[in-house]
Amino acid sequence: MAPLVALTNISKIFLTDEIETHALSKVSFTISKGEYVAISGPSGCGKSTLLAILGLLEVVSSGSYTLAGHNVENLSRQQRAEVRNRDIGFIFQSFNLISDLTIEENVALPLTYRNQISRAEKIRRVNDALNKVNMLHRARHYPSQLSGGQQQRVAVARAIVGTPSILLADEPTGNLDSQNAKAVMDILDNLHRDGATICMVTHDPRCAERAQRSIVISDGQIVGDGRLAAEFNLIKETSDVV
Ligand SMILES: Nc1ncnc2c1ncn2[C@@H]1O[C@H](COP(=O)(O)OP(=O)(O)O)[C@@H](O)[C@H]1O
Ligand SMILES: [Mg+2]
Repeated sequence: MAPLVALTNISKIFLTDEIETHALSKVSFTISKGEYVAISGPSGCGKSTLLAILGLLEVVSSGSYTLAGHNVENLSRQQRAEVRNRDIGFIFQSFNLISDLTIEENVALPLTYRNQISRAEKIRRVNDALNKVNMLHRARHYPSQLSGGQQQRVAVARAIVGTPSILLADEPTGNLDSQNAKAVMDILDNLHRDGATICMVTHDPRCAERAQRSIVISDGQIVGDGRLAAEFNLIKETSDVV
């Protein structure tokens, strides 16, 4: 089966005040449906840039990106927004809820332009997403009335309400204490168990070890990929037997 995500020789150069920053250099990897991948590496190595490219929030400077069988590196801004809305669920470090919308209105946002979904179905989906993160009892509250951990759980509900192909999380526990961080990680574990594909940037080893596969980036390049290591060991073990 074709991978859900395939990045081939992705490079990203930022140009600011005539200074070129090579944030990513020839990055290639694939993510299969149902995988849970952690991306780690030192500050400034390109993790957020990589996740923003995966989430179609940034465009590549060169290389190709295939998402669910479609080439997405040359889409227009409008087409990117459509694919993002349909296929991507994004969880940010700083929650990014809209302060003058209620919790249920925030969670419903990704469904706004889904005209094929009835109003009743939208309400059902919002309730279902809030239920999965144990926040249904706060549906009519506003973000400022919730703790950071609760806000992040709502952000997870917003990310999953549109049943995206992949969940992208950039340091989702970076602003949380360890107890709230664990609650969010437990929710991601449950979503993964139910079939979600997850790609999470984290510098916390306790978070990274929840994933099945760990990709390590340094200076804009992949320097480690746990799945490859696992496959390599498997090949070695098999050849040892033979
Ligand atoms: N919008 C931008 N404009 C210019 N430079 C950027 C931009 N975003 C990121 N960078 C630079 O790209 C590099 C990688 O950044 P980033 O992906 O945020 O790293 P990380 O998330 O691993 O800390 C850094 O040198 C950063 O300063
Ligand atoms: Mg970052």
